[in-house]
Amino acid sequence: MAQFFLVVFALSISAPLALAQPAKASPADFQTALWAASCMACHGPEGRAEGTGMTIGGRPGEELAGLMLEFKAGKRPATIMHQHSKGYSDDELKRIAQYFSQLK
Ligand code: HEC
Repeated sequence: MAQFFLVVFALSISAPLALAQPAKASPADFQTALWAASCMACHGPEGRAEGTGMTIGGRPGEELAGLMLEFKAGKRPATIMHQHSKGYSDDELKRIAQYFSQLK
């Protein structure tokens, strides 16, 4: 019986501790996910704007980052993205690009 209570005691202590562990996510990851969510308004859920040529989800991160940096530098013709990309530092654009590349 004492063993039973010991097990219950151990579980009641360890379960909340396990829940308190962040599931790999850091505040920086959360911030990137929020930025990416704003892109999805135009580029579709998970960045997959099927049939529009606007899909960015699942494409290589380096390719996406390169496109974003070209927009930002005004080297790539755009109606929207040249403005939008200026709202982020180069490092932030790379983080967003990496995020979309992982949406397989
Ligand atoms: C208001 C709508 C809108 C939002 C929000 C938006 N985009 Fe775009 N995106 C476009 C349009 C439109 C284009 C086509 C280029 C242009 O006209 O600006 C484009 C093009 C792109 C391209 C180039 C795709 C290709 O294959 O040429 C990338 C990469 C991209 N966007 C990434 C992003 C990311 C990352 C975000 C969020 C930080 C974002 N976009 C937010 C509308 C949007």
